[in-house]
Amino acid sequence: MAPVFPVAFTVLVPATSANLGPGFDSLGLALQLYNRFEVVEGGNDPQHPVIQIEGSLGAGLPTGPENLFFRAFSSVFASKGIEPPAVRIRMFIQIPAGAGLGSSATAAVGGVVAASEFLRLRGLMLSEQEVLELAVANEQGNHPDNVAPALLGGLVATTVKDGKIHAVKTPFPDALKAVIFTPSFSMDTLAGRKLLPSSYPKDDVTFNTGRVALLLSALQTGRYELIGEAMQDRLHQPYRQALFPAMPDIIKAAVAAGAYGASLSGGGSSLIALASSRFQEILRAMQEAARARGVEGTGMILRADKHGARVINPRHHRVRRPRARYYEDQFCWSPARPLKEGSLGR
Ligand code: HSE
Repeated sequence: MAPVFPVAFTVLVPATSANLGPGFDSLGLALQLYNRFEVVEGGNDPQHPVIQIEGSLGAGLPTGPENLFFRAFSSVFASKGIEPPAVRIRMFIQIPAGAGLGSSATAAVGGVVAASEFLRLRGLMLSEQEVLELAVANEQGNHPDNVAPALLGGLVATTVKDGKIHAVKTPFPDALKAVIFTPSFSMDTLAGRKLLPSSYPKDDVTFNTGRVALLLSALQTGRYELIGEAMQDRLHQPYRQALFPAMPDIIKAAVAAGAYGASLSGGGSSLIALASSRFQEILRAMQEAARARGVEGTGMILRADKHGARVINPRHHRVRRPRARYYEDQFCWSPARPLKEGSLGR
């Protein structure tokens, strides 16, 4: 008989870059930069978690029941009519908030995956679709384009109709890395959406539909020289530029320095450039172009994350299951594949 410990595990959830230019509200790419959530069963009150936030990037995140990770966690139990456990949560925040890198999606996904781990121990498996839909329901604006890649990893195309989400993961080439420039200011996604028109000319719509098709085809066939054209957008970036006037100059500088293409990441403020070489030069060019326009910022060079959210370091042996069975019908968050701290984000 296995010893009985309090349930304890860590959920690792990747950053994501949504839109990738033309794929407004429908494309997202997971990146090797992570928020980490340690969850331990304990405390007295299931409605009032003990939440500790580590890392300066998490300063200002709520530590009460209104915390997004906890709200997502609780919502899963509420949806099943099951009393949640009291928990202590430590959050290690590496993804800046308000930077277009899916920080809030990590909380929505992390909370749902953590709840699903508790339910699994009680013999109740959530389907992939349930986890996705519960996580999207908890995300501000209910857009799946950050949530789906945060959960599944890789490059994910999503659509929503009447609450039904389709999310399809497609391979992202190993040859490419994302060069991320993050300005020192943040951009509010919802405020940016208020700048968008309520309808679009047909030319603008077909401009984007063609480029989404071109981007996915170029990535799948290795025609990387088409990425620059394929990352053009007429549905959101031109309007959001009012909040970030230096954006086109920084994008141009990235391409001039060797990137295949670049765009706003999600609703901003980060910019993402895709490249297969000259990563440092591209980043430096982006920083210099930004500085020339009075914008300071930091940078990262990141590979795509292929696995999405996962539970690591589980320490809960109330029910011991054969490992193979434990993993075979889970999708991407199940592999216990500890990452070395020093290897993150490089
Ligand atoms: N696609 C969203 C937007 C961001 O551009 O507002 C992520 O959901």
